[in-house]
Amino acid sequence: MRYFFLIYAIIAVLVVGIFGFRGQQFAKPPLRIFPDMDEQDVLRAQKPDAFFANGQGGRLPVPQTQPRGFNEDGLRELGGIPEYEFSGDTGYYYTGQIGDYFGNGMPEELALTADHATALIRRGQAVFTINCALCHGPSGDGQGITSTYGVPVAANPNAKLNSISPTIYPDGRIFNTITQGKGLMSAYGPNIPVRDRWAVIAYIHTLQAAKASQPKTR
Ligand code: HEC
Repeated sequence: MRYFFLIYAIIAVLVVGIFGFRGQQFAKPPLRIFPDMDEQDVLRAQKPDAFFANGQGGRLPVPQTQPRGFNEDGLRELGGIPEYEFSGDTGYYYTGQIGDYFGNGMPEELALTADHATALIRRGQAVFTINCALCHGPSGDGQGITSTYGVPVAANPNAKLNSISPTIYPDGRIFNTITQGKGLMSAYGPNIPVRDRWAVIAYIHTLQAAKASQPKTR
């Protein structure tokens, strides 16, 4: 009987000790024997946080952030967010090819008018500056920043985008090069939507016009 009371007392102490203080709030930080990442300096969604000056835990996107597929010019001037597609159908718009040949000119799917053309070129400038200028140079002369680090872009005469001739390098072929890549240049089809690829091509034409209007120096 003595043992019964002893065991009863031990069990009672254990039960109270283990379960009795669950949910209790303590002022002091708990003693951590194994610091197994229970406590972390993380932001909790929808909770205030003292780390930031305004006490707001959730961060707002940086100004000028654009959600994927959002095109401000497109929204304003093309009358709605343009469709955002990377591949899809056959036909000139999606492949740059007409039958077995590369075509030339802007596809009718862009529904270009004189007003839209400016928006498309501006869009092309943005996409070109982000994706192509680092290798091909801001003016398309093949002297991008990577040429200083040994990427031989300008070694290929076709890579001087501001002087390729449309007779040997029609628009459809540029489209194909952006989509599939070529030689040392990797494919940008997965990164640049179809419409933006055409916008880049439109912008390359302005670079060519700019180059052609320069006085010839030797
Ligand atoms: C990482 C560097 C890099 C980027 C970014 C890049 N290119 Fe290139 N590009 C090259 C190199 C290198 C070549 C030469 C390829 C070769 O001869 O192997 C080339 C070649 C080309 C050619 C000529 C290909 C041929 O048929 O001879 C075209 C056209 C072209 N690039 C367009 C573009 C456009 C448009 C973009 C932006 C969407 C772009 N490139 C982005 C590196 C790049």
